[in-house]
Amino acid sequence: MEDERDHDTISSSPPSLSKQLAGTTLGGSADVPVVDLSVSDEDFLVHEVVKASEEWGIFQVVNHGIPEELMHQLQVVGKQFFDLPEAEKEIVAKDGDFEGYKRKYLGGINNWDQHLFHRLSPPSIINYKYWPKNPPQYREVTEEYTKHMKRLTEKILGWLSEGLGLPREAFTQSIGGETAEYVLRVNFYPPTQDSELVIGAAAHSDMGAIALLLPNEVPGLQAFKDEQWLDLNYINSAVVVIIGDQLMRMTNGRFKNVLHRAKTDKERLRISWPVFVAPRADMSVGPLPELTGDENPPKFETLIYNDYIDQKINGWALEDLPVY
Ligand code: OGA
Ligand code: NI
Repeated sequence: MEDERDHDTISSSPPSLSKQLAGTTLGGSADVPVVDLSVSDEDFLVHEVVKASEEWGIFQVVNHGIPEELMHQLQVVGKQFFDLPEAEKEIVAKDGDFEGYKRKYLGGINNWDQHLFHRLSPPSIINYKYWPKNPPQYREVTEEYTKHMKRLTEKILGWLSEGLGLPREAFTQSIGGETAEYVLRVNFYPPTQDSELVIGAAAHSDMGAIALLLPNEVPGLQAFKDEQWLDLNYINSAVVVIIGDQLMRMTNGRFKNVLHRAKTDKERLRISWPVFVAPRADMSVGPLPELTGDENPPKFETLIYNDYIDQKINGWALEDLPVY
């Protein structure tokens, strides 16, 4: 696992800056799908999440079973951490790897964020040195939230598998089952007067399989669809589901790895809590044999996930912009 967004400078982030800025004036009207998970008809849910993944690669889920109080606590401990004096935050600063705290909005107009990044699961790869000790409830709240993230992710992956005629566990197993990596990133985007120009998170697709993102109440997340940037309307207590590169590759392009970005706000602080779910680094990932055939030959190479990460990041560094 790597921090893909550490590599996106103005000159190397996809797509080109002019394309991103050109998009800022286009206010889209189509709404990102919302799926109500309390519906008891499972076939309907399967249909809804598959359709949203095929057409959009991003959707919101409501009535997902994560206690509102827990979501609120996660937001409180995250905000408390970022409110600490810089020296206290530096205790969990990055020191070489992607995990830890980093302040990043010191120059340029891209990626105006500070963030905290650390693994959540499996337990064998957790580095607690990057988990804040302050506020004291941080660990307990985050561990509880992780349990819910795993449960919800496996549910959604199960529906997505079934919807494509695969056994329920297919996608979960394809990313390593219990060894799949869950990583939390807390994005902290301070307000900026130049919010028309300053991008919080540059346009990208997520490298892993799927991400579940909890935003605060300040809108800013946008998805690129039909040549336009569309705003995600904030829905209280919803979780945003983002299909990443590996689910796109496993389905031979049937699911969209949505291009998305985050804007900044003029007055208000925006914070988001995506949890990225990725294959174990040594797993081979490519189009599933069950989803390919003579009629539909594999469009993507099967790659060890770690090599995929290297290729994507090196591609960016060489300014060899990926085509979306
Ligand atoms: C990300 C991301 C969007 C947001 O961290 O990968 O897409 O709303 N963040 O902060
Ligand atoms: Ni993202």
